[in-house]
Amino acid sequence: MANLAVNIAGVELKNPVITASGCCGFGREFLDFYPLSALGGISLKGTTLNPREGNPPHRIAEAPAGMLNSVGLQNPGVQVLLEKDLPWLKEQNTVLIANLAGSSPEEYRAVTEAVEGSDIDMIELNISCPNVKAGGIGFGTDCDLAGGVIREVRAATTKPLIVKLTPNVTDITAIAKVAEAEGADAVSLINTITAMRIDINTRRPILHNNTGGLSGPAVFPVAVRMVWQAANAVKIPVIGLGGISTWQDGIEMMMAGARAIQVGAALFTNPMAPVEIVEGMNAWLDKQGIKDINDIVGTVKPW
Ligand SMILES: Cc1cc2nc3c(=O)[nH]c(=O)nc-3n(C[C@H](O)[C@H](O)[C@H](O)COP(=O)(O)O)c2cc1C
Repeated sequence: MANLAVNIAGVELKNPVITASGCCGFGREFLDFYPLSALGGISLKGTTLNPREGNPPHRIAEAPAGMLNSVGLQNPGVQVLLEKDLPWLKEQNTVLIANLAGSSPEEYRAVTEAVEGSDIDMIELNISCPNVKAGGIGFGTDCDLAGGVIREVRAATTKPLIVKLTPNVTDITAIAKVAEAEGADAVSLINTITAMRIDINTRRPILHNNTGGLSGPAVFPVAVRMVWQAANAVKIPVIGLGGISTWQDGIEMMMAGARAIQVGAALFTNPMAPVEIVEGMNAWLDKQGIKDINDIVGTVKPW
C-alpha cells in the first residue's frame, strides 16, 4: 500500500480526500455510510456569524452532468457549530475544516475570532460572497477586496488558513497570488461557476435567485485548468475541487498540481464517492509501483 497521507500547511491528512463544503452538512449525514475517519478531512457547511435562512426556493436546478444551487449560505450560525456540532465532530478522528463566510470584512473577522479558540483544525475562507458595502461585488472577484478580507482574517487567527477561490474571474492566478501575499497557508479551488436555467413554459428562471452556481462533472475540466494555473503561480499548497466524482478524476486533479482534493456535488448521487476514490487511487498507485501519492502532484507534462 502506498503512502496516502498528505500535509497541508502543517496539518497531516491521512489521505488527500476531503468532502466539500455545503455538500456534507456538519458530517452526521454520513454515519449511515462510513465513519468520518475514512476521510482525509471534512469541510463543514459554510458558516456565518449569525444564523442565515438562505434564499427562497427553488434553490436547486438540474443541468447536464451537474447541478445549479442558490442555497444562499443557509446555516445555523457559528455558535451552533461550536456548541452543538463541534463536541461530536472532534471525536470523529478526521481533520475539521470550518468554512467561513461573511458580507463584510468585519463579519469575516468576527466569525474567525469565534472559532479561534476551538477544536477546529483549519479555516477555509469562502471569498465568493458578495461584499454588501461594495455594492455586492464578490470579494473573490476583485484583488483589492480579496486582499482586504484575507488580511482581516489572517490577523484574527493562528490556525492554518485556506482561501477558497471563485472561478468567476478572468485570471485565477491574480487572486491566488493575492491570497499568498496576504498570508494564506493554502488555496482551494474552485467554488461554483455562476450559471442560469430558464423554464421555457413560464419564461421564469428556475432558481428564485435567478442565477446560481454550477457544480458537478460539468465543471471538472474548468477546475483542472484553474488548479493547474494556480499551482504554477503560487508556492503554497493548492487543494483541487470541482466536478470530481471518480478516482481517475482525483489522480488527474493531483497531476494538475493539487496536494489534496475535495468532493462536493458527487456526494448527492453517490455518498460513497470519497471512499471509492481513496480505494481507487490506492490501487492505481500500487499498480503503477508509486510508493507515495505526493509523488504524482503536479506531474502533468505540458506540451
Ligand atoms: C448545495 C451546495 C452548497 C454549497 N455550499 C457551499 C458553502 O457553504 N461554502 C463553500 O465554500 N462552497 C459551497 N459549495 C461549493 C462546493 O463546496 C464546491 O466548491 C463546488 O460545488 C464545486 O465542487 P463540486 O463540483 O465537487 O461540487 C456548495 C455547493 C453545493 C452544490
